[in-house]
Amino acid sequence: MTVKEAIFKRRTIRKFKQETVPHNLIEEMIDCGRVAAFGGNMQPLKFSVIDDSAVIEELFPLIKWAAYLPDGAPMEGERPLCYIAVLGDRTIKDGNFETDAGAAVTNMMLFAEDAGLSTCWLGAIQRPKIKELLELDEKFDVLYLLAVGYAAQKSVMCDFSGDVKYFIDENGTVNVPKRPLEDVMVITKGTLK
Ligand SMILES: Cc1cc2nc3c(=O)[nH]c(=O)nc-3n(C[C@H](O)[C@H](O)[C@H](O)COP(=O)(O)O)c2cc1C
Repeated sequence: MTVKEAIFKRRTIRKFKQETVPHNLIEEMIDCGRVAAFGGNMQPLKFSVIDDSAVIEELFPLIKWAAYLPDGAPMEGERPLCYIAVLGDRTIKDGNFETDAGAAVTNMMLFAEDAGLSTCWLGAIQRPKIKELLELDEKFDVLYLLAVGYAAQKSVMCDFSGDVKYFIDENGTVNVPKRPLEDVMVITKGTLK
């Protein structure tokens, strides 16, 4: 798979097979996150693997799934068996972790795609409660969770027709509208063609 293929094929997946992801693949994902582009090369992020079923059960209600879909949250038997918690280390950098986290999560998602895994980047999460649940050291900010696993649903890109909301079609496939290239390109002084 080329990088471009991974970029275009990757879609958010929220329903997963109940199949454990080998730990070496999770580690490889984190390795890809580790070497992302970081402002000032500060590398202020840390990553924690959450795959203990008892903890995952407590973590699940602290996440808001698929805001646009009434039945978008995974049901029992479809829930992720593994999450990567992306943490900001305040002893390295005093906040402003967002862009760094974006770069790292993107690297991890693209590696996952190439490895046959699917992901859901989760930001609508109850951070203080998650920090408590994971018994994290005070120096860490919980930035994001990344659910990882084997897809048990289909999701595809579709043409944008005025609404950004993803939806489920008659086949049960999630459709994610993306604005067309011509809509996102802005011609300014300095644009030759
Ligand atoms: C910063 C960020 C936070 C997100 N948080 C959530 C979330 O809390 N719950 C969820 O179900 N999806 C979440 N998503 C996934 C988005 O809904 C998804 O990326 C978007 O609908 C586009 O779909 P695609 O990833 O398939 O292109 C988040 C994505 C990003 C980039």
